[in-house]
Amino acid sequence: MTGKAYDSIKPIIWQNNTLQLLDQRLLPGEQTYITLTDVKSVAQAITDMVVRGAPAIGITAAYGIVIAAKQRFTENPDNWQQEIEADLQTLAQSRPTAVNLFWAIGLMREVIKGLAVDDPVSTLLALAKQIHTDDIAANVKIGELGAKLIAEKCAVLTHCNAGALATGGYGTALGVIRSAFGQDKISHVYADETRPWLQGARLTAWEMVYDDIPVSLIVEGAAAHMIKTSQMSENPIRWIIVGSDRIASNGDVANKIGTYALAILARHHGIKFMVAAPTSTIDMNIDSGDDIPIEERSAEEVFGFSGRKVAAEGAQARNPAFDVTPAELVDAIVTEKGVVLKPDLEKIKALMINVA
Ligand code: MRU
Repeated sequence: MTGKAYDSIKPIIWQNNTLQLLDQRLLPGEQTYITLTDVKSVAQAITDMVVRGAPAIGITAAYGIVIAAKQRFTENPDNWQQEIEADLQTLAQSRPTAVNLFWAIGLMREVIKGLAVDDPVSTLLALAKQIHTDDIAANVKIGELGAKLIAEKCAVLTHCNAGALATGGYGTALGVIRSAFGQDKISHVYADETRPWLQGARLTAWEMVYDDIPVSLIVEGAAAHMIKTSQMSENPIRWIIVGSDRIASNGDVANKIGTYALAILARHHGIKFMVAAPTSTIDMNIDSGDDIPIEERSAEEVFGFSGRKVAAEGAQARNPAFDVTPAELVDAIVTEKGVVLKPDLEKIKALMINVA
């Protein structure tokens, strides 16, 4: 694992008692870190996509709570545990779909409740760091388990960015791709450019190029054609590998808008659909994908890109950021605790028994 991009791509850094986020809106052209010193700015950075990707959002929120605790404790050492709840709410409102955000806030809240009044910061920082390092370890395990499912050398297709940038490091879907490529099981990666934020074009392609993994960008609309025509080629696309923002207890999967269409394509063309995600992405409190809140972002993001408007004046736009793939279209959910093939409620329950 040494000397590779995922060791050096660090979306979130805690250094000198400050939180630094790599501004992903500027990648790949510019690598700039933003320093955040108050919880409102942390929540705003999540909303504004400075940091994005479900696990990365959760880790950022955990560090945001450390910042909040420091401030609240300094201002009012007797009542900080009650007052900090407002900060937890602020963070919880930053983005609605990725459950890792609420999972991380929940873990931090539990510790806050049980803390003695003196110096909460070191205990909370230790937990935030643990959430961060556990996520990297989970991704390495997911990579290992996911690669095992790829039986013969093939091309794969991925969507959005579920890489080092979207996580504590290494990546979920890109973790599987990294691991399988290292075992000579992947000949080529096709990356959907992923409108409107172009996470595929800007982030996934950057990570793959950085790691010397051959990658071709395609527009989302090209996926069906590429899957179909590749079947007769030397590099057939045999797997679609994606991450997730929230997996319901029945195995329905929310991920970046466009994922559902890919799952339908996979089934139609007889190729496999893999979801790589840590167990912190599984929400056992909801029965199905119908209960997953789908973020609808500003129409401005669809009208153009990077501040430049290209759409016709007067047109309206819809901008759902995620969609839900029904469990019956999912061949495998790969987590750090094991693989669930053809997911359903019973299998997900059995997996989650292993989660502390
Ligand atoms: O809007 P984004 O960029 O936060 O969406 C990210 C995704 O949809 C990822 O696929 C998902 O969070 C998994 S990241 C390991």
